[in-house]
This record gives sequence, structure tokens and C-alpha cells, in this order.
Amino acid sequence: MRSVVHIHDLSFAPFISETTIQTRIQELASQLDTDYIGKDPLFLAVLNGAFMFAADLFKHLKCQPELSFVKVSSYVGTKSSGRVDELIGLQTSLKKRHVIVIEDILDTGVTMDKIFTLLESEQPASLSICSMLLKPYSYKGKHQPKYIGFEIEDQFVVGYGLDYKEHGRELPAVYQLIR
Ligand code: XMP
Ligand code: MG
Repeated sequence: MRSVVHIHDLSFAPFISETTIQTRIQELASQLDTDYIGKDPLFLAVLNGAFMFAADLFKHLKCQPELSFVKVSSYVGTKSSGRVDELIGLQTSLKKRHVIVIEDILDTGVTMDKIFTLLESEQPASLSICSMLLKPYSYKGKHQPKYIGFEIEDQFVVGYGLDYKEHGRELPAVYQLIR
């Protein structure tokens, strides 16, 4: 694992190693296999951050999973309510499907609440959350995530898909901000 990395104006120290991540992913995959085998599960990975986690998780899944990548976008609509959220990239119907949302990190939970609202309207048979990281002290989301890689303190992290101003996603391990 590389030692300190510098991204833009900040420095980051090693936090969760590549080996630790990969071991945990195998455990998550077997938990998901147990829960979803025979259910034709559909995984929706949220871009951009979840791309690496989704790819590594998928190498181990044996539950014949389907995968789509989605992106949350927010635009100014015509209604007085202001911004409107939409989910881009969804091409399959979710009706009666067992859907698992793959995220890189759950912080306040605002993003996941938006995603849930959009997905629930598609009437899936079930909807659950699989996130590599969770910040339990800031998470106020309405839905408890069932599959979590690691719980971390409220600190800023990069690597393994996560970015600081769009850089650092390529790092195979997770790094924490040095204060
Ligand atoms: P919420 O608060 O909606 O936030 O759960 C989720 C989104 O915020 C970003 N985020 C981070 N990105 N390091 C990052 O690189 C972090 O420590 C961090 N915390 C939150 C991320 O884009 C996530 O989807
Ligand atoms: Mg980001």
C-alpha cells in the first residue's frame, strides 16, 4: 500500500488496505448469495463512486446477478418545488424484481433517500442497500442498510472509487484525510 498520497491541496494517509477490502468483499458476496440465490437479483450500482466496489463484488457473486449502472441527477424543474431528482441509466423494469443498490459511501443518507424514493415508485419486490462504507454517526437515512463493508468515523476518505474533486478514484485502497 502506498504511503501518504497528495491530491490537489490535501494529503491522505492509508486507512483500509486493499487486502482488508477484498477479504470483506468476499464475505459480503457470500451473504448476498445466501439471501438472493434463486431470486434473479438486480444490482444497481450508483455512478461514479461505486464502480470499483461493484466490479470487485461481482467477481465473487454466484446468485446469477444482473447489473445496471445508474446516476442521480438533479435539475431545475417547472414545478414550484425547485429541483427535481431523476435516475439516469435505468433501462430494465424493476417491477417485482429484487433490487440491491450498490453505493460507495453512506454519509448523511440524503442521496440514498432520494434514490429510494425514485426506485420505490417502480414497485420492486424488495429494495436493499449494499454500501462499501457507512458513517453511522452522520447517517440519518430512512432505510437501514443491510450490507455494509466497513463502518467509519465522520472523516473524509478517498480511494477505491471515492474522489476528492474527481481525483483519487483509481487508488485500490481507502485513504483518510490528514488533519
Ligand atoms: P450523503 O450525505 O447524501 O452523501 O449520504 C453521499 C455522497 O457524499 C459523498 N461523500 C464522500 N465522498 N469521501 C468522498 O470522497 C467521503 O468521505 C464522503 N462522504 C460523503 C459521496 O459522493 C456520496 O455518494
Ligand atoms: Mg464524490
